[in-house]
Amino acid sequence: MEIEKVNIGVIGGSGFYELFNLKNKRTKKIITRFGDVELEVGEIANKKVAFLARHGKGHALPPHKINYLANALAMYEIGVNYVIATNAVGSMREDLRPGTLVVPNQIIDFTKTRQYTFFDGTFSIKMRDGTVKKGVVHTDVTEPYCRELRNKIIEAASKIGFKVIPEGVYVCTEGPRFETPAEIKFFKIIGGDLVGMTASPEVFLFKELEICYASICVVTNYAAGIQKRITHEEVIEIFNKKKTEIAKIIVKTIEIL
Ligand code: HPA
Repeated sequence: MEIEKVNIGVIGGSGFYELFNLKNKRTKKIITRFGDVELEVGEIANKKVAFLARHGKGHALPPHKINYLANALAMYEIGVNYVIATNAVGSMREDLRPGTLVVPNQIIDFTKTRQYTFFDGTFSIKMRDGTVKKGVVHTDVTEPYCRELRNKIIEAASKIGFKVIPEGVYVCTEGPRFETPAEIKFFKIIGGDLVGMTASPEVFLFKELEICYASICVVTNYAAGIQKRITHEEVIEIFNKKKTEIAKIIVKTIEIL
C-alpha cells in the first residue's frame, strides 16, 4: 500500500500533539527496518503534519535508549522534508535563564553508546532526488541545523511576539544522569551554551537523510554547579510552562513554511 505523504514533522514529548488543533487526526504506524514507529498525523493550516513522541508513548525510554534511527527513517518514509524538534536543556550561560527559548545552530557531541549513523556499511537508501546512498558515507555537518528552517522559526516567533535566541551551541551528553560541575566547566570552556541529552544523533541522522531539521530548545534550569542542584521535576515543570508558547511558534512556522 502506498504510504500517504506528509511534508512536515514535529518531534516533541508524548502527548505534545494534543496542544495543536489537529484536523483529521489519525495514528499511523510506520514499519522501518530499525523498528516500528507510531506517528500522529493531522493538518495544521491545511498542511499535513506528522507528530512523533521521541521517547515513545508515556515517556518510556531514557535518552540513550531512544530508537533514533527508526524515528528518523519513519519521518523520511512518510515523506517529511522539514522537521521541527523540541528539546529541554540546561543553560551554561547566566544570560540564558530558565524559560528562555533558543534555536541552536551548532552542536558538540559527547554521547557514548548510541547508534550514530545509517551508513555503517550495509545500509542503502534511495534519496528523494533518485540517487542512491549506500555503504560508507561521510556526511557534511558544517551546518548541522537547517538554516532555512531556523530562520522560519525565528521569523514565526517574532511575528507573534515571542522572544527566541537565534543561535546557540548545544552540548549533548549521554545521560540519563545530569552532569558534574566539572563537566559543565569544561563544556563552557570549549564553547557550549546549552546542555541536553536528546539532540544527538537525531540531528545527524536527519542530516544523513537530507531532511531540513531545526530545534526549539527550552532552558529548564541552569546547568550543574551554576544552580545548586537539578531535579527532573523542575525540568518537566518549566518545559510544561513553555509548551503552549512553543506550540504557537510551531503553528506559525508551519503557516509560513
Ligand atoms: N543537563 C542535561 N540535560 C538536560 C538538562 C541539564 O541540565 N536540563 C534539561 N535537560
